[in-house]
Amino acid sequence: MAAVSPVPRFDRLRVAVAGDMIADHYVVTEPRGLSREAPVMVLRHRSEYLGAGGAANVARNLRALGANTLCLGAVGRDATGRELSQLLASEGVGVSDLHYVAGWTTPTKTRIVAAEPRRSRQQVLRIDREPDAPADAETRARVASRVRALAGEIDALVVSDYEYGAVDLDLARAAVELARGGTVVVLDPRRQLEGLDGVTALTPNVGELARFTARSPERLNDPLQLARAAHALLSKIRARWLLVTRGNLGMALYGEGCPEDGLSVDASGTGNVTDVSGAGDTATAVFALALAAGEEPPQAMRLANAASGVVVMEHGTAVCTPEQLALALPLSPAAPPSSPSSPSSSARTVGSS
Ligand SMILES: Nc1ncnc2c1ncn2[C@@H]1O[C@H](COP(=O)(O)OP(=O)(O)OP(=O)(O)O)[C@@H](O)[C@H]1O
Ligand SMILES: [Mg+2]
Repeated sequence: MAAVSPVPRFDRLRVAVAGDMIADHYVVTEPRGLSREAPVMVLRHRSEYLGAGGAANVARNLRALGANTLCLGAVGRDATGRELSQLLASEGVGVSDLHYVAGWTTPTKTRIVAAEPRRSRQQVLRIDREPDAPADAETRARVASRVRALAGEIDALVVSDYEYGAVDLDLARAAVELARGGTVVVLDPRRQLEGLDGVTALTPNVGELARFTARSPERLNDPLQLARAAHALLSKIRARWLLVTRGNLGMALYGEGCPEDGLSVDASGTGNVTDVSGAGDTATAVFALALAAGEEPPQAMRLANAASGVVVMEHGTAVCTPEQLALALPLSPAAPPSSPSSPSSSARTVGSS
């Protein structure tokens, strides 16, 4: 039986995240009943707190696994920007390259959740606060030049694009220069692809892969179509690996050393799926760290999948510690290929968790 390697040591790695920082603002309430003013529910305010989303969530995830983590990007020069920065700093993420941009809004997702005492909570409404335009060009140029200056200083760079404009051509080129110099550069793509050819790996979800390759997401349920789309994107961006995250269907890996039809893992997790938001950030963080730690890409996928299976069991965006990852990693050897008729059999299975 093939032995499963333990969780690699991540605490010697130096990593950076550049991209769109997002604040996840939660307002926790208790339902009171119907309003007499309008046909709406009345909620009693209980508490509120701030969490990290987007690139900020990737940074928290990298740090929780022990890596020496630096965050590069912009937040608004406002209370939310400050609080987000403080949250990251309190967890040991380096925030000296977070720029506070006057007059710019920190992208913020406010989620109103309602819960009866001791009952599971439910999202009632989401309000997005968004900047009208990307942060100013000077700030973005400073981030890109800082990325260039990190050549030889870091083991991995994650570029996290959430379409708020942080990932521009300049940053893309800086990231690719690092990749050419031997740094592991992993892109979680949303919009920008221009200038990014030559990154080490990409981690799109199925919807993003479909959009980048002008296909319908439904078509990518078909294993053959998924593989074709993956190879189309791989040759467009000339990355070494493409990790497609497939929500509750797990993940599939394509590229160097993989069979043409890819390798797959079924979704991990033994408990209840509570909140999938940010699971893709965890996947990207762990995949990048594992590659930087010298893991083979199929094992990096299994680690990423196991960690994602941990965070979907928690409320809000969450992180996975090395201890949680060790418990979540399947103790079983590689599973046999899944049945060709199952939607998760799009690629050869390398060990489901
Ligand atoms: N419902 C689920 N059940 C089990 N695992 C899940 C579920 N949803 C997501 N995951 C795990 O998390 C990984 C990443 O999720 P997903 O494909 O939804 O990423 P995403 O769309 O980029 O998420 P986000 O952008 O919100 O971070 C999946 O590949 C899988 O391992
Ligand atoms: Mg994502």
